[in-house]
Amino acid sequence: MPFVVAIDGPSGTGKGTVTSYLAKKLNLLYIDTGATYRCVTLKLLKEKVNLEDTEKIKEILKNINIELTKDKVFLDGEDVSLEIRKDPVNSNVSQVSHILEVRQSMVELQRKMSDGKNVILEGRDIGTNVFPNADVKIYLDASVDERVKRRQKQNIEKGIESTEEEVRKNIEFRDNNDKNAEIAPLRQAEDAIYVDTSSLSIKQVEKKLYKIIKSKKRDAKWIERGYIQTKETIHKKIIRNIIKYFLASLYHIFYRIKKTGLENLESDEGFIICANHINYLDAAAIVLLNKKKIRFVAKSDLYRFPIISFLGHTFDVIPIKRGKNDLTSIKMCLKALKNNEILGIFPEGTRKGLEKNVKIKNGAAFIADKAKVKIVPVGIGGSFKPFSKVYINYGKPIDIKSFESDDPNWIDEASNYVMEQIIMLTNKKD
Ligand code: DC
Repeated sequence: MPFVVAIDGPSGTGKGTVTSYLAKKLNLLYIDTGATYRCVTLKLLKEKVNLEDTEKIKEILKNINIELTKDKVFLDGEDVSLEIRKDPVNSNVSQVSHILEVRQSMVELQRKMSDGKNVILEGRDIGTNVFPNADVKIYLDASVDERVKRRQKQNIEKGIESTEEEVRKNIEFRDNNDKNAEIAPLRQAEDAIYVDTSSLSIKQVEKKLYKIIKSKKRDAKWIERGYIQTKETIHKKIIRNIIKYFLASLYHIFYRIKKTGLENLESDEGFIICANHINYLDAAAIVLLNKKKIRFVAKSDLYRFPIISFLGHTFDVIPIKRGKNDLTSIKMCLKALKNNEILGIFPEGTRKGLEKNVKIKNGAAFIADKAKVKIVPVGIGGSFKPFSKVYINYGKPIDIKSFESDDPNWIDEASNYVMEQIIMLTNKKD
């Protein structure tokens, strides 16, 4: 699986320097997405295209050839590395980058350049728009004062004449343009790591980001391994049974377990168990306190811990990437059900989801419908305080097909019904 790092943030935060350093150090392909917008700007200026002339712009975009190498930028075969960093490109690039057709075409190009490679991209909308599923997202920021100071220093070094006032105005103008753009405005992705570089030197920023990416890379490797199911061998089965026996004994020592409705698990065909989720002890309770093998679906992030990865593989836990359309995971679920295995899924999607008022996830109902299997609702009651009573109440299997209708939301309704049954079962104490 290719590894994608997205670095976003306003201009003057040191993104370029830091990203190019990280690319070398981590052996990633460096893609300066700003350079692609700069190339388009240069071409439009050269061809004297009116920026309102959408048809002409489309034509130019069809035939443009942009190539980025380690340290050079080529536009239609010509080295334009220096030209794109000067005026008039500087003063027009912001406007050009906000033209819808330009954006669409450059995003497509940036994705194509990255296709199948380990990459680090720097820009404004990488984590939010170009690669919303990037493995690492970093949002670099710095105060306006600091960015003015840095840009002014750069200008002096390059022999460019400017006053501090001009530089400040320019930075504020660009920030405003980038943040308030109608299409793909600059903003921090929800899952991006925010790094304020105001009081850090470039070396310190490089060190900090290197550490973040290195550790995410290690995590990604472990998580990816979670998707490779290990073979079922006698050895694996023995280890699983030993762990199961040992941990189940602990449950019996620490809790007074009461199970009801076990007859609802008797089918020889595959089915899905849906339970409420209080803490990690409940998933384990269902798996450990059952004669049958139950494979839970759990967030893939858990696989980043080596010990959990070992347990996950031993118990064939199916990883799923949260908030993403994880097709690999869905395929693993369907295959397991086809092999008449039992899956465990938490419709709340997270611990104490009901308390947090989360929308009930419809993944279990969706998979049940696709695999044509039933859902057994389970209510787990009790607080899991040592020596307290824990109720595990299995309900009657639910046939998802019976909810099917012309209403496009029928899967959601079926999911809500499953959750209602679960809640009812959590209150059953006899
Ligand atoms: O990073 P830079 O200064 O070279 O970017 C040039 C311009 O392109 C700048 O005005 C912001 C814009 N840009 C963008 O809109 N989206 C990106 N992903 C990268 C740059």
